[in-house]
Amino acid sequence: MTQTSIPGYTYGTPQVAPSPISDADFALLKQTVLLGDEDLRHLRAAGEVLGPQVEAILDVWYGFVGANAHLVHYFSGADGRPDAQYLGRVRQRFGQWIRDTCAAQYDRAWLDYQHEIGLRHTAAKKNHTDGVVSTASHIHLRYLIAFIVPITATIKPFLANGGHSAADVDAMHAAWFKAVTLQVTLWSEPYVAPSVF
Ligand code: HEM
Repeated sequence: MTQTSIPGYTYGTPQVAPSPISDADFALLKQTVLLGDEDLRHLRAAGEVLGPQVEAILDVWYGFVGANAHLVHYFSGADGRPDAQYLGRVRQRFGQWIRDTCAAQYDRAWLDYQHEIGLRHTAAKKNHTDGVVSTASHIHLRYLIAFIVPITATIKPFLANGGHSAADVDAMHAAWFKAVTLQVTLWSEPYVAPSVF
């Protein structure tokens, strides 16, 4: 968590409700995605490499979303067309998320913000943070999960820009994949009945 003045970014503040996941269940989830101490070391290294490239990374991801009508639909305003202000506001928090993903401490504040991000993709909270009136009330869970692939595939060339060995780039990439899968799994929680999650 970093102190920022990004609109709508509430990580570590009392506005964020507690995550329902227990410490024991979270430990098992980390174990399931094979995330260990070595991965944390590689994630920190990834943060150093990605930090100065955040805007270029966001250009790639926004380019991908913008090129796919079924995805950019979720950023539509009341008229059903892409809302540039909404895209811009989310972009700032997305940039911070890249930094947070690499710096994650996996503590309660972090877990609580994962719960919040999940909610912001569902009808419970989508559009609330930026006061948007949108034709899309929620992001379909199938795309949330499927998006792990472009978010992971496209990061590799950026990881390779830091002057690390090919083996270290692979290790950073594997750690990134685990960290993103872990988060999207947590974000799926508000989509489903508690007994199913
Ligand atoms: C919000 C990441 C999938 C559309 C966000 C935020 C992040 C993020 C970091 C901002 C969280 C905050 O407010 O602090 C991701 C990741 C995904 C994913 C890592 C999957 C791996 C998707 C997909 C769509 C989407 C598939 C559909 C195109 C949105 C929208 C918001 C948002 C519209 C703003 C929600 C609001 O109104 O607050 N996402 N996202 N996301 N994302 Fe995603």
